[in-house]
Amino acid sequence: MSSSLLWFGAFGGQICKRLPPLLLTGFALSRDLALTLTELMTAIVVNSKLLLILIQKVIVVTQDMQTVLVTGGAGYIGSHAVLALQNAGYNVVVLDNLVYGHKDIVDNTLKTELIIGDTNNRPLLDQLFSTHSIDAVMHFAAYAYVGESVNNPSKYYHNNVTGTLTLLDAMVDADIKHFVFSSTCATYGVPKAVPIVEDHPQNPINPYGATKLMVERMLADFDVAYDLRSVCFRYFNAAGADPEGRLGEDHHPETHLIPLVLQTALGKRESISIFGTDYPTPDQTCVRDYIHVSDLAEAHVLGLDYLLKGGESTKFNLGNGNGFSVKEIIEAARTVTGHPIPAVECDRRPGDPPSLVGSADRARSMLGWHPQYADIETIIRHAWTWHQKRHSKVA
Ligand SMILES: NC(=O)c1ccc[n+]([C@@H]2O[C@H](COP(=O)([O-])OP(=O)(O)OC[C@H]3O[C@@H](n4cnc5c(N)ncnc54)[C@H](O)[C@@H]3O)[C@@H](O)[C@H]2O)c1
Repeated sequence: MSSSLLWFGAFGGQICKRLPPLLLTGFALSRDLALTLTELMTAIVVNSKLLLILIQKVIVVTQDMQTVLVTGGAGYIGSHAVLALQNAGYNVVVLDNLVYGHKDIVDNTLKTELIIGDTNNRPLLDQLFSTHSIDAVMHFAAYAYVGESVNNPSKYYHNNVTGTLTLLDAMVDADIKHFVFSSTCATYGVPKAVPIVEDHPQNPINPYGATKLMVERMLADFDVAYDLRSVCFRYFNAAGADPEGRLGEDHHPETHLIPLVLQTALGKRESISIFGTDYPTPDQTCVRDYIHVSDLAEAHVLGLDYLLKGGESTKFNLGNGNGFSVKEIIEAARTVTGHPIPAVECDRRPGDPPSLVGSADRARSMLGWHPQYADIETIIRHAWTWHQKRHSKVA
């Protein structure tokens, strides 16, 4: 008991001795705290002003961003165009019926709004145009299997022609005046001279090519009657994949040479067929012009910029100006993949012109388009990276 008293006395004494400095420290602390609070209040006021300015700027920038409706944006070329538009600062809305498109690409890679629907659905288009402020339309949505178009032309005229007419009518009623269209070198038919230039006669030899030519003609008339300005891009063979491996070609069924060759390298096919080895070409196999899909996508952005700056309606070829034979493509793919890629020589297919090579001089000079990936091994390497990634996931 007495020792406790002693301890308490000593401890109390220590506290008493230290009371004045403790009080001083407390005072200093509260003064510091008071300063901090003042600083905090100032910071809040200053920062909220800054925040307000920032929000206003974001609103202005967002209001300035133009919005493009991309039909078929879940497909091969459309998805690359969406990426290029986003990189160029456009806001994008995708319309795709997903008959051939990939929802996962729009949701997970492009991360943009996807409206699942058909260009033939007029009420849907009216609703879309009344709820979104659309400045221009890029129209990739179409069916594009040449052989199927021969056997079932009705499907192609309904989708590619009527679907586009429905879309154009809705645009006219919504006062949307800018249209970029995916046309094709198939509108030329069998060329009289290569490289093909834009004013080469257009005589398509299959219903697919005919549907695209019909749309080109509709667009010429819509320009005169409704001031709807358009750029028609006539592509040669789209190939390759996004150089960063985010997007690529995934058609079902696949009919294009490069993906079929790569599927053989992946072991998904036993061999690749070479249709015709008696053509009047250097190695007797068909020659085609392969254009990297990202270069195509860039051209679309330039075409859109051109229209939005008041450019007149016009048509451009999009190709490399270089032709590669079927045998050269297979050989380049062997080099890129390191796989032997067995090839089987077969008879010609009806309707395959010996050589299709385009001149894209007009796009280069009028739009300032400079393809970045003209080299065929680069095109195949980008496609190969994508195919390995996509097929290992899908399988
Ligand atoms: N791939 C080529 O080498 C090539 C060459 C010349 C022209 N084109 C043209 O380019 C465009 C795109 O070709 P792709 O190879 O990307 O084809 P794709 O099949 O990968 O893409 C077309 C997309 O449009 C969608 N679609 C089709 N009809 C629709 C409709 N009525 N409404 C809404 N969505 C619809 C499909 O689901 C698909 O996602 C097509 O118009 C094609 O004719 C392609």
